[in-house]
Amino acid sequence: MDTKLMTETARAMVAPGKGLLAADESAGTCKKRFDSVNVESTEENRRAYRELLFTTPGLPEYVSGVILFDETIRQKTKDGVNFAEYLKKNGILPGIKVDGGAHDMALHPGEKVTEGLDGLARRMQEYFAMGARFAKWRAVITIGERIPSRACIEANAHALTRYSAICQEASIVPIVEPEVLLDGNHTVERSEEVHQATLEALFHSLERHGVSLEHVILKASMVVSGKENARQAPVAEVAERTLRVLKRTVPAALPGVVFLSGGQTDENATAHLDAMNRIGGAPWPLTFSYSRALQAVALKAWRGNAANVGTAQKAFHHRAKMNSLAAKGQWTRSLEKEAVAA
Ligand code: 13P
Repeated sequence: MDTKLMTETARAMVAPGKGLLAADESAGTCKKRFDSVNVESTEENRRAYRELLFTTPGLPEYVSGVILFDETIRQKTKDGVNFAEYLKKNGILPGIKVDGGAHDMALHPGEKVTEGLDGLARRMQEYFAMGARFAKWRAVITIGERIPSRACIEANAHALTRYSAICQEASIVPIVEPEVLLDGNHTVERSEEVHQATLEALFHSLERHGVSLEHVILKASMVVSGKENARQAPVAEVAERTLRVLKRTVPAALPGVVFLSGGQTDENATAHLDAMNRIGGAPWPLTFSYSRALQAVALKAWRGNAANVGTAQKAFHHRAKMNSLAAKGQWTRSLEKEAVAA
């Protein structure tokens, strides 16, 4: 276990003004995204799309690391360079999604538990050899009538903990991602309560298992109103509630907190991050680890056509830059308007 390497990795992941690109959509999720723009989800199309993202000029200024999927870490640029190697050469850390997805939890209708611990230690060594320096495991917590249950919160916290221990033994920094879904009609108050319970359980579990908190990155969801709720909490309230719950539950020892976008609009994901950084005073850097809120514009501009690569890269570059500014609390809405005008 190389703690010095993990310290360097964690620090680089949350370097000032930089965040992560989540490009680790499973084949199933990728198909869903490609379907929305009428692109067939073939291995070559997935490769070409990821190449478009990774080779975007100027990306290393805003993106410190990319989360890859198992298929992608084995793929190459059209010039034959492994993606992981290409990223590393450009100053971007390759990371890897290692969980086996969220599956229905037995005896708990409507709830999920993430699988994938079997054989993980061996796979982790292989990923390290392929260049991965951090990993991701996503747990899903659903809010509904009488859920989440204590059992669901604890089963997921336990899996996240076992995964983290296995990562650290292989000198890979674990990103722990307990995503509280925004689907449903719950209030923002309820979201805050569930975040609090989920994060408390996770950090208790990590401590009990001796996981080094100095080498863990939290990937958090934000405390937003349920998508179907009539009252949508404004940006300032989301920022305040999210920061409050994080300060109550996340040890200051953590090197950083990154956020998922979870189905928020692109601009809201940026505005919320910016608002939190403007409030300031958090013991950890707060930055982004978005998939949809970074990629949606690029996918729409690309539509599977090589002739659109330049336009798609420009759109993607813009979102990366906006989120980089938000990570420093320096974003404004007028910057978005300038981009539309340009
Ligand atoms: P979104 O930003 O689209 O929520 O994706 C982030 C992620 O990695 C989910 O696991």
